[in-house]
Amino acid sequence: MQLRHVLAGTLAGLTAAAAPAAAVDLDELGFRWQMPAWLAAPPVPDDTEMSVARVELGRHLFYDARLSADGTVACVSCHVQERAFTDGRALAVGVFDIEGTRNAPGLANVGYNPALTWANPHAGTLEFQSLFPLFGTEPVEMGMAGREAELFALLEEDPYYAEAFANAFPERGGTVDLFTLTRALGAFQRTLISVDSPYDRFKYGGDETALSDAARRGEQLFFDHRFECYHCHLGVMFTDNLQTARSPFVETAFHNTGLYNLGGTGSYPPTAQGLAEFTGRVRDVGRFRTPSLRNVAVTAPYMHDGSIATLREVIAHYAAGGRTIEDGPYAGVGADHPNKSALLIGFDPTEAEIADLIAFLESLTDESFLTNPAYADPWPADHPARASRAMPEAMN
Ligand code: HEC
Ligand code: HEC
Repeated sequence: MQLRHVLAGTLAGLTAAAAPAAAVDLDELGFRWQMPAWLAAPPVPDDTEMSVARVELGRHLFYDARLSADGTVACVSCHVQERAFTDGRALAVGVFDIEGTRNAPGLANVGYNPALTWANPHAGTLEFQSLFPLFGTEPVEMGMAGREAELFALLEEDPYYAEAFANAFPERGGTVDLFTLTRALGAFQRTLISVDSPYDRFKYGGDETALSDAARRGEQLFFDHRFECYHCHLGVMFTDNLQTARSPFVETAFHNTGLYNLGGTGSYPPTAQGLAEFTGRVRDVGRFRTPSLRNVAVTAPYMHDGSIATLREVIAHYAAGGRTIEDGPYAGVGADHPNKSALLIGFDPTEAEIADLIAFLESLTDESFLTNPAYADPWPADHPARASRAMPEAMN
């Protein structure tokens, strides 16, 4: 069964069935994961639980521009469903049109990531991570630093939220605070599960007809020693950003892929030092977290700074074993970066191989995830939550 139907059915069914006669019981309102047999549900932190009410509340918050300093930026401004929850821009743009320093990552299966964001080894849960866009100042995204009380008051006074927080957090009396706000956002994001691409239907569902011949050949290349992609983009999520015994310091998932080498000095652009920004170690300069490749065909542009426009150019980058920038402030031979991963040895693909590899990457697009109504904007068209929201250009 397709996840779209399962999730929609779960939400509808549980809401109807969960009119408890007695006192509100979280288990009664319980959320049931509906996973395919080949994948376990994502982990949920000890201090929170999933519930239908929390997920629905989180969805409303995710799409609400009133959570930002100028009332124009919601999570969705940079995380759009039809783009697998990225925004199509090279660098994110926050309130007052302030440009950030990173490309917005997609959010498919984000609940499985033990290390969130491109290079912060300490961002270990969705709940903690959501504080960055709301209150972060480097860069400013939603710009609410120092305005927490104002934000909570706004939510408490809103008729929808007053009821929704009470339903979602009965054990806390429906209080609006950092705890409940971030738990609701986390609950919604944990439901963003994408497991219904043609590749999934072929690989895990046993549907031999789901993949084109080109995509099958591309799969062979992807998992081949010559191309080496699978060494870092491994497993069900196509990333080595995995829960390990060393978690939350999953530093094995950070690699320098030879994108920069400013003037041959081993430097990366000042705003994009990677893991070194957190460890201060020279050997961590330019090391970024391996992103998942699920839905990658709809998440362009690519890399931590959106500096590669197309999948074809990404493949050219790997084939060259790193990127050479001829002139300008970032000029340098990335392939010679001292921290570059030893797995980036370069290869010489034929045109046909490039086309096959792209066909494989395109087979990771899950249309039902991009259109699942359970993830869509819940607010009416003229509601202030979305009225003045600045959105990236639509996909063409
Ligand atoms: C102004 C654009 C912008 C807004 C608004 C925004 N984000 Fe993001 N988001 C980003 C960028 C850029 C990153 C990567 C940050 C980094 O690597 O340092 C990111 C990273 C994330 C991640 C980590 C994903 C991963 O795989 O590592 C999550 C989760 C996330 N955002 C959720 C949210 C939520 C929830 C909201 C609303 C409360 C939100 N974002 C608002 C731009 C934005
Ligand atoms: C050494 C580990 C490693 C290997 C090998 C590797 N990748 Fe990556 N990949 C990464 C990392 C790390 C990033 C992010 C780099 C950055 O932004 O600085 C990335 C980024 C990408 C992206 C951009 C994704 C996005 O959302 O921006 C694509 C596409 C990609 N890799 C495909 C491939 C393919 C195809 C191969 C094989 C030819 C490959 N990778 C080999 C680690 C690796």
